[in-house]
Amino acid sequence: MPLDKPSPPPNHDLPLHGQSPRNSEDTWVTTLRSLKATEALGQAIGYRLHGGEIIALTGQLGAGKTVLTKGIASGLGISPDQVTSPTFTIIHEYSGQLRLIHADLYRINSHDELRSIGLEDYYGASTAVVIEWADRMGPEFSQDYLQIHLAHTQRYIRLATLTAHGPLSHALLQRLRTETQT
Ligand SMILES: Nc1ncnc2c1ncn2[C@@H]1O[C@H](COP(=O)(O)OP(=O)(O)O)[C@@H](O)[C@H]1O
Ligand SMILES: [Mg+2]
Repeated sequence: MPLDKPSPPPNHDLPLHGQSPRNSEDTWVTTLRSLKATEALGQAIGYRLHGGEIIALTGQLGAGKTVLTKGIASGLGISPDQVTSPTFTIIHEYSGQLRLIHADLYRINSHDELRSIGLEDYYGASTAVVIEWADRMGPEFSQDYLQIHLAHTQRYIRLATLTAHGPLSHALLQRLRTETQT
């Protein structure tokens, strides 16, 4: 019998366990041990959006940014199947409990291009904005956003670091923490 038989993929579907370490009030690190856990984190966020929030997703290709966005959509009552990578259109708009704007900046190469899509025009009190490749946003980016960095640690495992920048995202992170801890 071969000794190096690969172990089966992890199947921990409980989303939000193992929240430590907590670095500070505004940072929360959580391990996502399956695709479902990432979807569930997105859904937990989607449920708790009040409108006006901006969620900035970072992490390499395949890190799970679109998977997380599908979860957010589902939490807002939008079918996750509608959500795809808006590769060519850059911005997709969905309507659910709130309007969801989903932007993917992968193909944005300059500040001029970024300005021309006018993402800021979509911001609004009854809108939640999710931005993939948010590190392509320029220095004039919003004052208030929840950054979620996804790191691809193993085939099925992602490490999510949520960092609140500003009062709205701070409040969202607080709701997530207090309401999802077991
Ligand atoms: N724990 C996990 N969370 C998210 N995606 C995962 C996970 N484990 C495996 N995957 C796979 O990783 C890929 C993530 O793709 P995607 O969300 O499109 O990435 P991105 O939008 O960051 O480029 C999918 O094929 C998904 O099935
Ligand atoms: Mg994507």
